[in-house]
Amino acid sequence: MTRTIHPSRSPLTGALRIPGDKSISHRAFLLAALADGDSRIAGALTAGDVEATIGCLRSLGIDLSLDGSAATVHGRGLEGLRPAERPLDCFRSGTTLRLLAGILAGRSFHSVLTGDTQLRRRPMRRVVEPLRRMSADIADTDGHAPLAIRGRRLRGIDYALPVASAQVKSALLLAGLTADGATIVRQPGPARDHTERLLAAMGARIETDGLLVAVHPTQSLTPLRLQVPGDLSSATFPLVAASLLPDSDLVLSGVGVNPTRTGLFDVLIEMGADIQRTNERVETGEPLADLHVRGAALRATTISGQTVVRMIDEFPVLAVAATQASGKTVVRDAAELRVKESDRIEAVAAELRAVGANVEARADGFAIEGPTQLHGGRVSSHGDHRLAMALTVAGLIADGPVVIEDAECAADSYPGFFEELRALGVDND
Ligand code: S3P
Repeated sequence: MTRTIHPSRSPLTGALRIPGDKSISHRAFLLAALADGDSRIAGALTAGDVEATIGCLRSLGIDLSLDGSAATVHGRGLEGLRPAERPLDCFRSGTTLRLLAGILAGRSFHSVLTGDTQLRRRPMRRVVEPLRRMSADIADTDGHAPLAIRGRRLRGIDYALPVASAQVKSALLLAGLTADGATIVRQPGPARDHTERLLAAMGARIETDGLLVAVHPTQSLTPLRLQVPGDLSSATFPLVAASLLPDSDLVLSGVGVNPTRTGLFDVLIEMGADIQRTNERVETGEPLADLHVRGAALRATTISGQTVVRMIDEFPVLAVAATQASGKTVVRDAAELRVKESDRIEAVAAELRAVGANVEARADGFAIEGPTQLHGGRVSSHGDHRLAMALTVAGLIADGPVVIEDAECAADSYPGFFEELRALGVDND
């Protein structure tokens, strides 16, 4: 389905409540299923990608009830999952597939994990290899899903991650919960640490020291009482839109500001954005805040190293901001973007060029010269939710309508995105 975004003639003003954090929601459901007893999760994302996690858990014998964004999960303990009758379909969700691989590798039954064509193109060796070192029995399909897992007893390992992937780190920590001996993961950069925070809140023995994380085997996990923060990655779309539309004044309340996620925040502020954090607080081990953003003139910057890890999902929208910043914005050390929901280097470059941006794709990033007046045109999301939303922001600042093909995938992480924008006065149909 296409979505047409009409140029915005007015600033973005008012308040928005952002849906629950996708990464935390996946983990909350998975860990609650392994807890001893009932967990209550409020503010969860229960649609899009997280639906895949919920569906897989139901197939694994977990009873859970949903009431909007509130959920009760009847945890059956670390050994309580039951074998699924059919292959577990993770749809487009890499987090579902990789985290479940870690959980299922140590169970006492067989499982098959699969997904749609987009997910079956994404690299799985990065999670299968270290799990095999833990003595997991996993057959992959040329380094991809489907994965056939013969569950068995695992042993802890000391493993240095070649890429800073939170999904792989989490898979190993989840496998480590019931392995023999400690599991130690050494990261090359600060990948999001929601699994560690939730495990600590549930009473697991987990230790961190800089970029090193160790988990010790445990008998049981305490059920969760969790309020899921708003997803900072989702918040970045209205945040950048409001920064780019002069005289905007927008408040986003209850957004997660975990420091492993706030790279774009720091980058935007360095670029001259006017973003204030207020009402900072901590809920169930996760920091959150209200974000107040006003329109501002932006200047170019260079992004590399650990900042890339802390904003790994935010490059499509950063690229849109860069088209409006004065000077050349350069992104380096970001080759991981090529194996996300789309090849985000090629896709971002091709689609933004189609609306007039000056973008050079590079092996490990891109360079964007600004400012450029974007024009209307026809673009594609490549089935990538974050690209669909970034192109929407591009449409707001273009001088003609931008038609986005396959735009409905925005709901993978931000259900109601287009409707919320319409309520703020953004014309789209
Ligand atoms: C995620 C980790 C990141 C991120 C993805 C969500 C997670 O992937 O890009 O959107 O919830 O653990 P990688 O682990 O591949 O870096």
